[in-house]
Amino acid sequence: MKLADNKATLSFSNGSPSVELPVYQGNVGPDVVDIRKLYAQTGMFTYDPGFLSTAACQSAITYIDGDKGELLYRGYPIEQLATQCDYLDTCHLLLYGNLPNAEAKAKFTKTVTYHTMVNEQMQFFLRGFRRDAHPMAIMTGLVGAMSAFYHDSTDINNPEHREISAIRLIAKMPTLVAMAYKYSAGQPYVYPRNDLSYAGNFLHMMFATPCEEYKVNPVIERALDRIFILHADHEQNASTSTVRLCGSSGTNPFAAIAAGVACLWGPAHGGANEACLTMLEDIQRMGGISKVGEFMNQVKDKSSNVKLMGFGHRVYKNYDPRAKLMQETCKEVLTALGLENDPLFKLAMSLEKIALEDDYFVQRKLYPNVDFYSGIVQRAIGIPVSLFTAIFALARTVGWIAQLNEMIGDPEYKIGRPRQLFTGSVKRDVPPVGAR
Ligand code: CMC
Repeated sequence: MKLADNKATLSFSNGSPSVELPVYQGNVGPDVVDIRKLYAQTGMFTYDPGFLSTAACQSAITYIDGDKGELLYRGYPIEQLATQCDYLDTCHLLLYGNLPNAEAKAKFTKTVTYHTMVNEQMQFFLRGFRRDAHPMAIMTGLVGAMSAFYHDSTDINNPEHREISAIRLIAKMPTLVAMAYKYSAGQPYVYPRNDLSYAGNFLHMMFATPCEEYKVNPVIERALDRIFILHADHEQNASTSTVRLCGSSGTNPFAAIAAGVACLWGPAHGGANEACLTMLEDIQRMGGISKVGEFMNQVKDKSSNVKLMGFGHRVYKNYDPRAKLMQETCKEVLTALGLENDPLFKLAMSLEKIALEDDYFVQRKLYPNVDFYSGIVQRAIGIPVSLFTAIFALARTVGWIAQLNEMIGDPEYKIGRPRQLFTGSVKRDVPPVGAR
């Protein structure tokens, strides 16, 4: 972060003295006005619910240019990573800042692979849940419970603990998601297999049974790996900010990541993939493409509270680059599985076409986001709709950890403590019961 040549001056119409505020420049993207001393200098806070104009930290991990529709992990465009690298390359990049060479890749893969098994006791913890529990409810519990099962790596201030907890989380998330699925399906858990790729092992744990061999389909394996890459990080979104805020108290990494999982669940964030597929299925039930016009009228009617799920983004005011890649993957998977005429895919394409030409969406710069097509791919692979967000959590875990570790290593890091504009009752006395 470097000091800009110019400064910002804040002046007041009531004659209070104006204050000069330093301005900092990043390597790319908007400059920031440093308001840290504002309260000490003026007795005033800034007001920015929803963080519309507030940079809560400095970060060197992920950069998004929302107007251009550009996403870079450590400087590398998502399109190149999605087509030239795999998920473990991406994890290495996000965690350590560089793409691994062949030797580093082999070492990293081996380390992750040899941590995929979870403590056998965790299955008994999992058994405490109802079989019909939502997988995200289970994942919030299981990830939080990791701090009870792996308490030898819970000191956030110890770099070795941070490293081993990072590897454990990346390695064990697929095992936990697959266990949550098997539990809901009433099937036996399938142990990880070290001879398979990260995505291949996940597919095997999801779909193998003790009764017959499951062969990983390479097209599906690649598609899933791409889903993981596209979801791996997305700078200071709601769940990542939750992880940072939670971790800022010095809590252990598993607890901080569990907070991220809980935040991701919401339909405005990671829950949108599930909500999007449910929306497509509802429209299909109502009559499919012939009902798109009617549905769009509801979306545009502000009193209806209906949103076009998988559309719109706080940062992207252009096509989400992940949505483009996901649309490609969607076509590949449907073709490989002989589902080219999938009615939900056709419906999604038709909704997208109408929305991209409609004034309501054009004026508000609403474009498809990553969740618009990811649900169709996952459904084609055979993943149940209720598990979509858990797969997002699995993939985002590396981003959460990289961001958490970056925060701990930042000499400027402090416990997060937002302030408020108080609008409640001023001081008053408790009246006697009879007078209330
Ligand atoms: N359908 C209809 N109208 C929309 C939509 C949508 N999907 N998204 C935004 N709008 C409207 C919104 O009503 C508002 O209209 P007006 O100016 O007339 O009041 C305008 O567009 C600006 O929207 P906003 O709600 O102020 O934007 P935001 O930045 O606060 O919200 C969002 C971003 C992602 C929460 C929102 O676009 C949304 O709810 N989208 C649907 C859910 C979704 O797909 N979420 C996944 C996000 S990408 C994956 C992830 O990172 O988790």
